[in-house]
Amino acid sequence: MSRRSTLATALVSGTLAAGLALGVSTVLPAGASPAPAAAPAAAAAPAAPAVAEHHGTPRVTVIGTGGTIAGLAESRDALQTYRAGQVPIADLVGALQPELSGVAEVETVQFGNAGSSGYTIEQFRELSLAVDEALETSDGVVVTTGTDTMEEFAYWLDLTVRSDKPVVLTGAMRPSNVIGADGPANLFNAVRLAGSGETTCFGTVVMLNDEFHPAREVTKTDALRLDTFDSGQFGALGVVDETHVTTRRAPARAELCGTAAWSTPFDVSTIGPADLPRVEIAYSYQQAGGEAISAFAAAGVEGIVTAGTGAGGISPAMAEARTAALAQGVTFGSTSRTGSGSIYDAEEPTPGVIGMEDLLPQKARLLLVLSLAFSEDEAQVRDLVDTVGSPEFS
Ligand code: SIN
Repeated sequence: MSRRSTLATALVSGTLAAGLALGVSTVLPAGASPAPAAAPAAAAAPAAPAVAEHHGTPRVTVIGTGGTIAGLAESRDALQTYRAGQVPIADLVGALQPELSGVAEVETVQFGNAGSSGYTIEQFRELSLAVDEALETSDGVVVTTGTDTMEEFAYWLDLTVRSDKPVVLTGAMRPSNVIGADGPANLFNAVRLAGSGETTCFGTVVMLNDEFHPAREVTKTDALRLDTFDSGQFGALGVVDETHVTTRRAPARAELCGTAAWSTPFDVSTIGPADLPRVEIAYSYQQAGGEAISAFAAAGVEGIVTAGTGAGGISPAMAEARTAALAQGVTFGSTSRTGSGSIYDAEEPTPGVIGMEDLLPQKARLLLVLSLAFSEDEAQVRDLVDTVGSPEFS
């Protein structure tokens, strides 16, 4: 039986739509047994908020994956020429002592030590499990990564971590041993933010340059500048100014805090690495060819996200290749290369082509990977994109 047909048998028909309408997680993964009598979503008991009350110093686990924050340059003035992922996370944390122990009791986990772009989706899954494991005993987790794809690490964790305790990602634009290294302050602030409990139920946030941002919206906007992270038209969530952690807005998901509806429908502990389908991105531009889409389809991908012009437009050659790929069963996510603005489904959408709202192509891809891993039903995938992908305040 193929993976997708296994998934189909695991889904309880009709339960997903009911759950999504109420924001309740009801998608069952491959191999999961449906509940004997699927309880009405409204009857789900509210879960107690998982954040621990702080009677003293909070416990924070710092998980290191590498990046520039762990980078080493050959001289103190080589601000942009260095090797990423060299210094163990325990050393980076140790360099912040004794001051850091006044903020949190910190333990470290070395998940990896490499540049961000080398990590695979299978490793992302492992990282989700490592974060949830750490949150069983810690009050918050900080994950250090390279900044190049930090927004993808962040959005993946946002979509998959089960605990509602704070998860804070940080990194640096300058390596650890140069004049003006930004890593130490970023890491210190990230531990302070994670230990503060301020972002409980926010999902994953990104903390650099004294600001914290929501995983869904944040993006790297500059190859070199320290203030590279930005959340577009909606702005940062808040700031950390020395001892002052100030929150100015919250992700819509925070409204569900303390209820079962807050939980992710993408519990990756219930699926294996082989259940995560391949999804690629094809970029549109003047006279873009259709070869990328054709090659992805020929390679057996299950999904393709198009980064379209304006409100999702793709070139005639791409459109022709998409039609052929749709006939082969490939699912398409439509996004805009403009960086903001939503691509909505039409009232009668093209079968197999899903508007990914205002998600950036690289984030729409992650959502499509997870949605296709947990459902083979197109209507359910559209619902997941609409609810989990674009949560709104009620
Ligand atoms: C990386 O993403 O691993 C390198 C760049 C950085 O961390 O800023």
